[in-house]
Amino acid sequence: MSIKLKDGITWVGKIDWELRKFHGESLSTHRGSSYNAFLVEDEKTVLVDTVWGPYAKEFIEDLKKTVDLKKIDYIIAQHGETDHSGSLSELLRYIPGTPVYCTANAVKSLKGQYHEDWNFQVVKTGDRLNIGSKEFVFIEAPMLHWPDSLLSYLTGDEILFSNDAFGQHYATAQMFNDLADQSEMLAEAKKYYANILAPFNKLVEKKIQEVLALNLPLKMICPDHGVIWRQNPAQIIEQYLLWARDYQENQITVLYDTMWNGTRRMAETIAEGIKEADPAVTVKLYHVGKEDINDIVTEVFSSKGIVVGSPTVNNRVLFSLAGLIDELGRMNLKNKRAAAFGAYGWSGEAVKLLNGMLTEVGFAIVNDGLRVAWNPDEEQLDSCRQFGRDFAADFTK
Ligand code: FEO
Repeated sequence: MSIKLKDGITWVGKIDWELRKFHGESLSTHRGSSYNAFLVEDEKTVLVDTVWGPYAKEFIEDLKKTVDLKKIDYIIAQHGETDHSGSLSELLRYIPGTPVYCTANAVKSLKGQYHEDWNFQVVKTGDRLNIGSKEFVFIEAPMLHWPDSLLSYLTGDEILFSNDAFGQHYATAQMFNDLADQSEMLAEAKKYYANILAPFNKLVEKKIQEVLALNLPLKMICPDHGVIWRQNPAQIIEQYLLWARDYQENQITVLYDTMWNGTRRMAETIAEGIKEADPAVTVKLYHVGKEDINDIVTEVFSSKGIVVGSPTVNNRVLFSLAGLIDELGRMNLKNKRAAAFGAYGWSGEAVKLLNGMLTEVGFAIVNDGLRVAWNPDEEQLDSCRQFGRDFAADFTK
């Protein structure tokens, strides 16, 4: 399949409708994904990125229907991760020696993965590649999200090929931001940012400001996953600037795991208290043991505060909470408050442990937490409700 974006610019990627896990098993992709690659035809013909290895043969067969492979003069490899570079080996068997334009770090990542010595042409920020009536301008984007990442701007057509940035793991036949289901598209863009780019917030903001300072006219942003931003492409740049600045919405999320429902009853009652104290706040509640961890990370990313509960099990917290908090530490989230709670039978260390774990990954703990021995009775449930009220009220201080 190929899709003409405009004269001389063709999408030649692969929509992966089946993908449900990415980065091994570590990232959920409920709505699939796409590996976007682009053919740019001027006096010279350029392929921007390829697709994931399992689809290499399919990709090349489709590409042959769009262009005689021998006409490809240059390949731009914006990033070495295998979802974009995985078809290079197969493709370069057909067109050996074709120059591969990439960053110095991409030479390392490509050689390290494929053990091939291709005709690498190293580019740096500001370098240009003339293809006839227009040219590519390269902008290195280290740690967005690998050290090898590269952005490529095409003059004339005024298109930014943004590699992973501005992408979504979202398989859609609509393909363009103005045609896609807006709620699905924006939810997937946020999940992608929260789980992949949030650790690099400072670099994201700096790189966007650097690109904006170039005053490049922009008609389209072509990321390597999800929809093409052709209608008001600046909207996703503005959204990234918001997300990059210690983002939060008026949301409090209650996260818990439970063994015999004591901690669950506490969680639900705390959520009631939060809502009582602040009817305007969005309150969400998740059983962490049953929920997708990447979806929870996205909810925490959107929250101004979280309330986290675990029973005490063998003097520790349940592993679902320990795993979640470790993952939140990787996301480097800032400017968020937290409190802990939990039911226990014998020793009751979980709340203190949660306080320590949450502090270690950057949350501001607002109180000592709330413990209940065995199942909460009505009086203890009243304490839970008050705990929720106090947590919500803390934001008005
Ligand atoms: Fe879509 Fe970092 O690869």
